[in-house]
Amino acid sequence: MSTELKYILPVEQTNWKIDGKNEVVFRWEYDDGRDDLLKLYEKGKQQQWNTNERIDWSQNLGEENPMGIPDQAIAIWGSDIWNKMTEKEKIELRRNGQAWQISQFLHGEQGALICTAKIVEQVPHMDAKFYAATQVIDEARHVETYSRLLHEKFERAFPITGPLKSLLDNIITDSRWDFTYLGMQVLIEGLALAAFQRIRDQAMNPLAAQVNAYVMQDEARHVAFGRLSLRDYYPQLTEAERREREEFVIEGSYHMRDRFMAEEVWESVGLNKKDCVAIAQASPAMGHFRTRLFSRIVPIIKDIGLWSPRVIDAYEKMGALDLANANTAEMLANDGKVADDFDARIAWQQQEAAKAVKATIGGAAAAE
Ligand SMILES: [Fe+2]
Ligand SMILES: [Fe+2]
Repeated sequence: MSTELKYILPVEQTNWKIDGKNEVVFRWEYDDGRDDLLKLYEKGKQQQWNTNERIDWSQNLGEENPMGIPDQAIAIWGSDIWNKMTEKEKIELRRNGQAWQISQFLHGEQGALICTAKIVEQVPHMDAKFYAATQVIDEARHVETYSRLLHEKFERAFPITGPLKSLLDNIITDSRWDFTYLGMQVLIEGLALAAFQRIRDQAMNPLAAQVNAYVMQDEARHVAFGRLSLRDYYPQLTEAERREREEFVIEGSYHMRDRFMAEEVWESVGLNKKDCVAIAQASPAMGHFRTRLFSRIVPIIKDIGLWSPRVIDAYEKMGALDLANANTAEMLANDGKVADDFDARIAWQQQEAAKAVKATIGGAAAAE
């Protein structure tokens, strides 16, 4: 069924066109690839997967809580508003909240697809063009995967939210290649990893957990790509140029911390948007989300060399300075490992099921 028929809110525009003026760069030196980027490119090629084969799409989501996410993760859980809701209203809130989340993943993945194609055009080095090309197919696969989850397993969809749209708009309209990296590979990918991680680690539904684990395995490589590319480039900038990047990061971080309040979800179930946002702002669920978000972003900002007193001060005000020393390499390696563990568990389950079928056939034959 067309996505348009599934949107439960009006979609003002089905096509969003942005007047971008990119600088497109050709490179005639083909033999000066950096080892670390070429290694990442090799990994990108080796770790390609097909969503239609790796995921068993015959699995279904739940009726009352589609992805099996604990209610404690809902930002208004435990509040007076929550306590007054009937069970039927809570079911509606879970369904809409989760469909909203997957819809935003889907739209964000399309943003990533477009940004990565832009990086292929703009980035001045061939090794980075190579790697970005593998990311283009990764992002197409992510759009395909979330689209399949939304169309086949949820009966509703939400349009892109204003805050996500303005974040993407800022990144796509900037003509400087490193702003695409900084906005997409560091900020939005960090936001995505924090949001995917919640579902991967908390969902009781195996299909929902598996989808997010596999997408995260790719996203971990994407973050590493941004980090490697910018770490080489930022030391070459002037103080004034670096300052512009720092301001972009500070503004983007505040935006992600304060603006993603799921307003459309509260409205869609007839709750007062303003009251719910006020509760959500101070909720433990939002606190956990912010910790996950900043643990993905702040160490990278430090690592790529945007660690001025101005940036340190901003993260201190956001309560995120402690996360600057989180071990990014370990986190990203773990994202890869969790996906492999899913594969191993599924392979084991299939083996056990095959053994059980064999035993049943053997038993039936012996009984004849
Ligand atoms: Fe992605
Ligand atoms: Fe990505």
